[in-house]
Amino acid sequence: MSWRDDFPVFDRPENDRLVFLDSAASSQKPRSVIDAVSKYYEESNANVHRGVYGLAVKATEAYEGARAKVAGFVGAYDKNAVIFTRGTTESANLVAFSWGRQNVASGDVVVVTALEHHSNLVPWQILCEEKGATIRMVEINEDGSLDLQDFAKALSLNPRLVAVSHISNAIGTVNPIKRLVAMARDVGATTFVDGAQAAPHVQIDVSALQADFYAFSGHKMLAPMGIGVLVARPEILDAMPPFHGGGEMIKVVGDTSSTFAPIPSKFEAGTPNVGGAVGLAAAIDYLEGCGMEAVLKHEKELGRLAIQGLQGLGGVKIFGPESERAGVVSFWVDGVHPHDLATILDESGVAVRAGHHCAQPLMRRLGVSATARASFYVYNDEKDVDALIGGVRKAKEIFAITV
Ligand code: ALA
Repeated sequence: MSWRDDFPVFDRPENDRLVFLDSAASSQKPRSVIDAVSKYYEESNANVHRGVYGLAVKATEAYEGARAKVAGFVGAYDKNAVIFTRGTTESANLVAFSWGRQNVASGDVVVVTALEHHSNLVPWQILCEEKGATIRMVEINEDGSLDLQDFAKALSLNPRLVAVSHISNAIGTVNPIKRLVAMARDVGATTFVDGAQAAPHVQIDVSALQADFYAFSGHKMLAPMGIGVLVARPEILDAMPPFHGGGEMIKVVGDTSSTFAPIPSKFEAGTPNVGGAVGLAAAIDYLEGCGMEAVLKHEKELGRLAIQGLQGLGGVKIFGPESERAGVVSFWVDGVHPHDLATILDESGVAVRAGHHCAQPLMRRLGVSATARASFYVYNDEKDVDALIGGVRKAKEIFAITV
């Protein structure tokens, strides 16, 4: 039995050749997650926190149980300081809208890095434009690692906020996140960590990291789409105004103004995604069963083999640092546009992502408009690496003839 056997998508006759190398975009789901979500809808579905009848109590228990599971999995400061959102993007927007509008003013500086996904950049750009604050983007080194000297220089501006990814979605750079957060804290900056590519692959401990905010998405870590998390210091969340207004987030609603519920409810207006939270809890159970160390080791090994194989073909440039990288392999094949490459790979059943990976500032610095990206997860194996290398070889042959 391999982990792959737990994923029904690979059992489908039409997918018998599927080599899925796009988990950085969204992961496949194990049978246990699919079953947990079905079971919730079959046995426990009702709105939460509202009804006194048995089914509503069961649904509320399932939802709050999922919150406790997430809190334990990532070392949250407090179970109630785990806010369910739609995903990392919504988590960042929540912080930009609520904390940002209260704490960032004209003349302030927000530090980001050139490695960021647009979701950890555009919300801060919108905030800074509105407030008359400035974005300072930290540069990268030639190898795609973060320029720590430039990071220190940016911190000398005494930023209000440092928003940084734990692992780059586009090129797989693993940032020295503990060091970055400590450096930011030393200058009194608040820290927001985009953990979308980290939570699925490495053991997270937000309390040990001492980050003020840490965000991630369920769908990249074997859970359904539409469920995500914002973990934060409870005292910061307590002091923040609401993000969305509506049901469940209030204490008393007057005719012209309202008072608000304590966290987490203050940030969870409306009916939440209970089925998604249940699926996320099941995904965490699955990942804990695999062991996060084993997960990371497996992906890094596949990444290493892929890099070795691609380099062996010649005419392939690999982006990102040699060490300090996760199972994401972003590359450029001389003479073959990444989109053409992705199309040819698809003909052999190999699914990779081609494009700017929602990281245009990074692509500009790498001097390309796009890359091809293979990203590995628990269900991939060495045969998948061989299929990738074979597909790239074929693409090179086709383009050598036609151009
Ligand atoms: N953030 C996702 C990716 O990197 C969509 O592909």
